[in-house]
This record gives sequence, C-alpha cells and structure tokens, in this order.
Amino acid sequence: MAETEQDKQDHLWGDGADAGMHPALAVISDSLRQDMPLADADLRGSAAYARALGRCGVLTEDDAELLGSTLDTMRDELHEGTWKPKGAEDIHTAIEAEVTRRLPELGGRLHTGRSRNDQVGTAFRLTVMDKIDLIVTALIGVQERILAQAEVNIDLLMPAYTHMQRAQPIRLSHWILSYFWPLDRDIERFLQLRERCAVLPLGSGAVAGHPFNIDREWLASELGFQAISENSIDAVGDRDFAVEFVFLCSMVAIHLSRLCEELVIWSSAEFGYVKWRSDLATGSSLMPNKKNPDLPELVRGRSAQTLGEVVSMLSLLKGLPHSYQRDLQEDKQPVWRSAYIAHSNLVAIAAALEGIRFNGDRMEAALTDDTFATEMADILVDRGMPFRSAYRVVSKIATAAREKECSIKEIAKEADAELLDPLTLEDIEGLSALQSVERRTATGGTAKKAVQEQLEEAWDIVELYKERLEIE
Ligand code: ARG
Repeated sequence: MAETEQDKQDHLWGDGADAGMHPALAVISDSLRQDMPLADADLRGSAAYARALGRCGVLTEDDAELLGSTLDTMRDELHEGTWKPKGAEDIHTAIEAEVTRRLPELGGRLHTGRSRNDQVGTAFRLTVMDKIDLIVTALIGVQERILAQAEVNIDLLMPAYTHMQRAQPIRLSHWILSYFWPLDRDIERFLQLRERCAVLPLGSGAVAGHPFNIDREWLASELGFQAISENSIDAVGDRDFAVEFVFLCSMVAIHLSRLCEELVIWSSAEFGYVKWRSDLATGSSLMPNKKNPDLPELVRGRSAQTLGEVVSMLSLLKGLPHSYQRDLQEDKQPVWRSAYIAHSNLVAIAAALEGIRFNGDRMEAALTDDTFATEMADILVDRGMPFRSAYRVVSKIATAAREKECSIKEIAKEADAELLDPLTLEDIEGLSALQSVERRTATGGTAKKAVQEQLEEAWDIVELYKERLEIE
C-alpha cells in the first residue's frame, strides 16, 4: 500500500520527504503487536520522563505536569479499552504519536534527550519485573497446595522409588514435599533476578548519555527501580535479565514436568495411586473406558518450548556488538512466550493439586516386604554388626526370595535358620513399613516427626513470602 503524506510525516526520522519504507522491510520492522505487553510500562516510563524533564529545566514545571498527566490518562484509557495503540511501527512510536496528537507542541518535546534505545530497555525491564511478580505469586500458590496435600496425607505410606524400582517405604507427604523445595529455589532465583532487573537504563540516551543532566536517581525511585545503570553503552544493549528470565521460566517448567511425569505414571491402572476429579481429566473419542491425565501431559509437553526460548535468547546475543542493535527487537517474544507457559502451567498444576486424590490402599499394597530389606540390615546394625556384614546377611535372604519369586516373609518361614542367621523368624515377621519409616528421624527424613518439622519450616517460608510480597 502506498504511503500517504501523513504516513511520511509520522516517521520518526528524516525530514518527512523521504521515499518511506519498502513494504518488505515494513513487514519485518513492525513490532507493534509483540510490543503490546510493554504498553503499560512505556506509558509509566514516559510520564516519569516528562516530569523529569520539568525537574531539569527542559520543560516548565507546568508543561511537564501537563505532559505527564496526559500520559497518565492514556494509561487509564489503555486499561479501560477506550484507547488502543495503533498505526505505528512500535509501541514507543505509537505512544509518542498519540501524546503529540493530544498536545501537538509539548508532545514534540517528550523525546528530548531520550532514545527508543533507553526507552525500550526501561519498559522491558519494568514489564519483566511485573511478570516476575505474577510468576512468583503463582509459584507460592502451588507451594500452598503441596503443603495442603502433605498435611492431609501425613499418614499415608508408599514406596519411594529409585531407578523407578521400589526402594524404601516413605510417607506420601514426604514425596509431595520433595516438589516444594525446587519451587522454593525457583522463587529465590526469581526474586534475586528481580533485583538485577531493577537497574534503570533511562537517561542513557541512544548510547552516549543524557545531554541535559536529567535526575536519574529520581526517575529510578519514581518508577520502582533500585539502582541506575553505570554505563550508557551497556545500559542500552544489556539483555542479561531477559536471558535469565527465560532460563528461570524453563527451570520452573522442568520442575513441573518432573512432577507431571510421576502423576501420569501413577494414574495408570498398574499403579493406581492417583485419581483425577472428572473436570481435570478427559475421555477418549474412541475408547469409552478411558480417563486420561491430559493435564499433566500437557504441562509436561508445554515445557519443551521453554527450552527453545533459552536457546533463542542466547543465540540472539551471541557476537552482537555492544550498545543497541536492531536484532534486539527480537528479544520480546521469547520472554512473553516463556512467561505465559510458566504461569499457565503453574495455574494448571495448582488446580491439579487441589483436585487429585491419592489411593492409600494401592500404595500400601505396593509396600511389598522387599522394601524392608534396608530395615533388616539396620536391625542388625542396632545389635552391633558392621553394616557391610549386615548387608550380606540380608542380601542372601533377598536373593533367595527373588529366585523363588516369593516374599521375604514367606521365604523366612520355609528357610532353615542358617539362611536367616543372626536374624530370627520373629525379627522378620515383625517387620513393617511404619517401623522403617519411623526410624528415619534425622532432619530431611520421612519419620512423622521429621516430616512435621519440614512442613512447619515450609509453611513459615510461605508465610514470609506472602508477607513480603503482600499476597493475600
Ligand atoms: N522496537 C524497537 C525494539 O524493540 C525499539 C527500539 C528501536 N530503536 C532504534 N534505534 N531503531 O528494539
């Protein structure tokens, strides 16, 4: 489509008499749609910048306030849906064009000393900070549901698995709490990243710095930044925060995908440990007998894309000269996509944890007495035998049971005393999952006392986060 005279005037560069942009370039240059998540932050940044221009004498205080409050109004209208950025190649241009339409003379002064390079860095950081808050809140939501399940199921016992083989008896609570801590490390990493993100680029200009001695400290505190950048060249080209953000989103996705893998396996009839509420499962279009765990399958599957986003972000930066390069326009989508996947997966898992039930009978049935083998050795250690010798005694019994395809208790009844020695038939008949579980009292273990301590510690952490982040 041919450019009109007005289109030419609307270009940000040149004298308005140039030939305009080739359509092929326009297609790849246009970023308005992918910039939309920046709109709120860009309006906040622009309003603060207008007021800062008043503080350093570029604008009169009254003009600065008029410009600032017009941008505030545009922000309200954006949220009400009464104004929608359009007709420009990116969000920064759309906002400047609109404020200039509303205040023709003053709008033309807003960009004094500012470049889209420090502008986009500022809006991008603010938006990532908002997304961090959203994801951290969702992480805490999942943590709370993990704790609720751990609390109500504290007395259910099940086998723990290593190599996906039955290993030792544990409490179900202990298993589910094992997913609390990775998410806790995710929260810690996100909050640390938030601090690194809160470094203000605005006031760096295009690359060389600000010519009118703008008060950057004031801008930082006005916008909720904790520090200001020390080098204008670094400030306009630094996207470390975006790389870290997509990595942290993928870390969350990976943690959830491991939980999902277990939930999918446990939903099979072979295990039967997990039951899904009907609104959280789906049927098959062909097989009337099916109830499928689509939710954890989808969460597991959607985690794949987040890995690609990490590679995209790093590849974008590799070998890029310092300061702003236009390549950096491609830095937004990996961030938006990662944030969306991490957040929606967390919300889905929170719903799942609210709606699943655990089948204690099936878990108990899986606690076959081979899972007491370590306990048998520990009994001998109690009686003074070196562990390695105790291991050999039990190993002989366990191997005999395996070869005859019967349980340890059965083999003990049939075997001569020599095979068991120095264990007795009474020792073996007295074995139970609970005994094995309750022996493991050291911090981090599966005994009731240790799990209760773990739960308390976890609740304290959640309460602390909620207080600090002012979450209801
Ligand atoms: N849309 C651009 C981006 O996201 C804004 C910065 C453009 N700067 C420039 N010098 N062309 O990166």
